[in-house]
Parts: sequence; structure tokens; C-alpha cells
Amino acid sequence: MKFFADTADLAEIRDLAETGLLDGVTTNPSLIAKSGGKFLDVIAAIAKLIDGPISAEVTATEAKAMIEEGLKLSDIARNVAIKVPLTWDGLKACKALTARGIMVNVTLCFSANQALLAAKAGATFISPFVGRLDDIGQTGMDLIREIRTIYDNYGFATEILVASIRHPIHVKEAALIGADIATVPPAVLKTLAQHVLTDKGLAQFLADWKKTGQSIL
Ligand code: G3P
Repeated sequence: MKFFADTADLAEIRDLAETGLLDGVTTNPSLIAKSGGKFLDVIAAIAKLIDGPISAEVTATEAKAMIEEGLKLSDIARNVAIKVPLTWDGLKACKALTARGIMVNVTLCFSANQALLAAKAGATFISPFVGRLDDIGQTGMDLIREIRTIYDNYGFATEILVASIRHPIHVKEAALIGADIATVPPAVLKTLAQHVLTDKGLAQFLADWKKTGQSIL
């Protein structure tokens, strides 16, 4: 499974990129606003830090304007993927942009039927928001299971990019289901490597090693 960072914070992205484990970045208008930076400059800066796909979301709601914005955003760097919302206009823009060889991430997906339409529109990525479904008492990961089944039934190439991830269980379940990508907030990403027994075991190894008086170098 690929890991994308769900942030527009350059310092966080730089920090995570150094691990060599980061496969891409997703942003959205809220994350861009939170970054405090100018949208096009932020995307250009991220594209210099990361080789993988960088999602940049259009803000128009009509297909023609979405396409115009998408063409402008894709000119920033070859690894920019255009995010469009899952609306009929977004699906029309998706079809037009992918026909031009531009990566498209169809976002704000909350149902299997929406995901089916996005795949038919040629989406490169589909972004189901699991956390927001959990927030209203549904089980967001059930949607990922449904999409995985539907996409496998018909051999759709669209990659399932699990979004709105709130905790490590979302990441584990996404991997168990066979999602292609998890886009994870940096704070959650950093917890994935942590375990209290690892810390405890390492401390014990080092304490016992110290008693030997030896060194490797
Ligand atoms: O990539 C979408 C993500 O940023 C939304 O997350 O927590 O606002 O539902 P959240």
C-alpha cells in the first residue's frame, strides 16, 4: 500500500520525505488555507520535494471552468494530480482531463455508486472520506470494502485512495481490504511506527549491551 501525506505543510512534508516512505501528497482547499501559503506556490514547492503524485484541487464548480483550472494546475509540475469533487460536473471534468493524459483524483466520495461513476469517468484515484462517514455514525471502512469489490469485479484501474483517515486502525483496515493508497495526516503517520513494547524492548537490549562494555565501532 502506498502512503500519501494529507497536508500542505511544507515542513511536515520535508520531514516525512526524509524517511523515504512517502509516495505522494494530497491537499485540498482547507489544507491550503491552513498552510497560509499561496496555492500555486505551495503546490510548486511540494512538487519539488516529492516525486510522487501531488493532488491540487480545483475550486470551480462548472465543468468548463474546472477543466481550465485543472489545465493551469497541471502546468505547475508533471506530478500534479487534479482533484475534482464527485459531482456530475466533476465527472465531466475528470473525463476531459484524463483524456489529455492528466492524473485526476476524484474526491469527496461517500458512496459505492459515486466511486463506480468515477472509475467509469477514468479517474486515476478515488478518494472516499472514511472519517466523515464515521462522524455520522456509519462505518467508513465498509465503503472501502464495497469499492474494492466493485473495482475488482470489473478490472477498473482507478486506485482507491483512502482519505479522511483519523487513526491507525483506518490505516490497518485499509491495508487489510487491499486499498491502493492511504493518505494520512502527518500526526497519524508518525504514530504508525510506535509501540510501547518496542520502546521497552529496545531499552532492555541497550541496558544489557551496556553491561558488556563493548562497542561495535
Ligand atoms: O484528503 C481529505 C482529508 O483532508 C479530509 O479529512 O479529517 O477533514 O475529513 P477530514
